[in-house]
Amino acid sequence: TKLPTNKLSAQKDGYRFFMEKEIYEQSNVITDTLLGRLGTDDIIFEELDPELFNGINEIKLCACGTSYHAALSASYLFERYARVKTSVEIASEFRYREPIMTKDTLFVVISQSGETADTLETLKMAKNAGLKTLTICNVDNSSMVRLSDATILTRAGVEKGVASTKAFATQVTIFWMLSLHLAKLRSTMDNGEIIKQIELIRQIPGAVKVRDEIHEKIKRLSKRYLHGHGFFFIGRDIFYPLALEGALKLKEISYLHAEGYPSGEMKHGPIALADPELFTIALLPEHMLYEKSKSNVEELSARDSTICAISPLQFEKADDFIATKNHESYMLEFFEMMVVVQLLSLEVSIRLGNDVDMPRNLAKSVTVE
Ligand code: G6P
Repeated sequence: TKLPTNKLSAQKDGYRFFMEKEIYEQSNVITDTLLGRLGTDDIIFEELDPELFNGINEIKLCACGTSYHAALSASYLFERYARVKTSVEIASEFRYREPIMTKDTLFVVISQSGETADTLETLKMAKNAGLKTLTICNVDNSSMVRLSDATILTRAGVEKGVASTKAFATQVTIFWMLSLHLAKLRSTMDNGEIIKQIELIRQIPGAVKVRDEIHEKIKRLSKRYLHGHGFFFIGRDIFYPLALEGALKLKEISYLHAEGYPSGEMKHGPIALADPELFTIALLPEHMLYEKSKSNVEELSARDSTICAISPLQFEKADDFIATKNHESYMLEFFEMMVVVQLLSLEVSIRLGNDVDMPRNLAKSVTVE
């Protein structure tokens, strides 16, 4: 049922679209996600039975869409911090490829809604195969939550924009915390390092706060990016899943062709597309493979691709430059850059006159196969 327009605009609190409101809400909802979960030298998930991780040697993450990108991000954190073998699956693929499921694997589904048909089905498959299951979800009492052995709720609040923003932000927050929780359980990080990471996690709400000058800058430069024959969002390490997510956001609401790519892989094909009409949105964090990523972008710049660099470090080869803050860790850079790519797709979509919250052909929750 549709609410009358005046009620709808009241709910938007003065923002032009729900998506914009939800981008601005991220700082608060992440604060909620952290509430009661940060101990001094451990992460506390009261909802998890410590037995859940007994006998687990591997983690398999399964999801669709934006939640799949959060899962990809998790795989970097789980392997880096908790040293646990982690794989990530697209639910619609996993269902039919007769996957091998062993009982020492924890099966994790990620879903904003908890109702996505393909993801729900993989959860059933894992249960039938006798695997332990965990759901990371934004909706309590959803089908996945009810079916799963354990649940962590993301506490993003109701998300109305079809293009997911704050749900993704809270999913990655949970995964960062979970990776440290596992690191503690598996003794793969010393206490000092865990304490340091917890201090960084406390800074996420600050890192995702939208700064006026950055939003204004993105509004202005978005006019350059309304045409062209395509976008590449590029990044390395965990910034690669963020690049995928940035490209998905742009596709969803601007209907422009965008692809996420690992920066180091561009030379193996995609660089052939480089010309001034090819837009490269380059994620250049200071604390994750900066020099390597930079030289990948220079290759594209030398072939005349139009470059929009997102970085705390000035980059002369860029046509446009969005300056992020200096953070102590690549993960805080991740969160600030997440906001930048969300705002960029929002502003491009608005300039194109699209309905940001109800993009054509898409549904918020896909409950059929
Ligand atoms: C739909 C939505 C996407 C979402 C995906 C998975 O395609 O349009 O924004 O990422 O479903 O949804 P879920 O609720 O499982 O996270």
